[in-house]
Amino acid sequence: MINIKSNREIEIMKESCQLAARTLNFIEDKIQAGMTTEDVNEICHKFITENGAYPSPLNYNGFPKSVCTSLNDVICHGIPSKKDKIKEGDILNVDVTTYYKNFHGDTNRTYFVGHVDPEIKRLVKVTYECMMAGIELCKPGARIGDIGAVIEEMAHDNGFSVVHEYCGHGIGREFHEDPQILHYGTRGTGVEMKPGMTFTIEPMINLGKRHCKLLKDGWTVVTKDKKPSAQFEHTILITESGFEILTLDPAKPYQPNFDE
Ligand code: MF3
Ligand code: CO
Ligand code: CO
Repeated sequence: MINIKSNREIEIMKESCQLAARTLNFIEDKIQAGMTTEDVNEICHKFITENGAYPSPLNYNGFPKSVCTSLNDVICHGIPSKKDKIKEGDILNVDVTTYYKNFHGDTNRTYFVGHVDPEIKRLVKVTYECMMAGIELCKPGARIGDIGAVIEEMAHDNGFSVVHEYCGHGIGREFHEDPQILHYGTRGTGVEMKPGMTFTIEPMINLGKRHCKLLKDGWTVVTKDKKPSAQFEHTILITESGFEILTLDPAKPYQPNFDE
């Protein structure tokens, strides 16, 4: 069942989404070689709770931490740990979900740690462009399958692969709602988009092959070939005329320039 949100619900949900985006802005210049992923977890936890929200991942199906931190060949759901030191040249995805006034807001970014290999930088840039291409086609009457089709096409054109096992999702009063948003697929198929739908688009794109492996901790998903994987995520709303990205901080809307 797909929940259509009322204007009142959307206004509240937007506050949660913006707080999640502010958290990612807050940590951007704090992520540095030498710190651990647990340090990142603590900074995010403090920021989220001091702003009156709850970090949705904490205790979600037993997840032990407040954010997911996915380094290099970790595709998603990395568990912050004191043992995982961030080093120069790494890419680190931080996935923040806030629960605020009964609504979830879900967003993630992949950060560069110092100087990153140009091919890995290209992976991150293309992953962001894949997410944005998926977002920009959203409007009433478009189909969910259109999102996966454009993402898959763009990833493959650039020589990269798309993770199939994890997907975007409806979001609102629940962390994960219908529909599922696959990041591969066929144009013109799937659920038709309608005003008031809210869902995430969060492609995971691999430098090598698409195949993944779940580690024994039951959460951490890594690439089988140990090559890097990148991800970006926004929560979006379908409006009467198109889409609105809810997970943008109005004070500092994220607009990366990967060519700097
Ligand atoms: N934030 C992730 C998503 O984009 C879900 C994390 S679930 C957790 O859907 F339990 F690992 F935190
Ligand atoms: Co999500
Ligand atoms: Co997320």
